Amino acid sequence: MKIYVCKKCGNVILKLEDKTESLDCCNQKMELTTPNTIEASLEKHLPVYEIKDDLINIKVGEVDHPMTDEHYISFIILASDNNYVIKKLSPKDQPVACFSYNKEYTKIYAYCNLHGLWLTEIK
Ligand SMILES: [Fe+2]
Repeated sequence: MKIYVCKKCGNVILKLEDKTESLDCCNQKMELTTPNTIEASLEKHLPVYEIKDDLINIKVGEVDHPMTDEHYISFIILASDNNYVIKKLSPKDQPVACFSYNKEYTKIYAYCNLHGLWLTEIK
């Protein structure tokens, strides 16, 4: 899975197969996002998690990320090599998600509308 963003309008595309060269939006190329590369508070952006039985509780981040119309976490993804579960969020939500969990899942992504993509590996 690759995640592309339009720097002009903020559209986000989750690309499950990446076979063509580029995606366009607003008459320009969308940018491939790389997690944990934008300078911002790690405490507010890196997902933290707790696994209990067959559930995983995810929170962004250790210090709650803001959830305002201007600045918010817009989705959280729990990912394995073959599966993704996504929780879409809006500014009125808390930056949290709870999913069914098994050991195949190894990554948690969170996307901030201002500070991009963040990744925590599940250990
Ligand atoms: Fe942020």
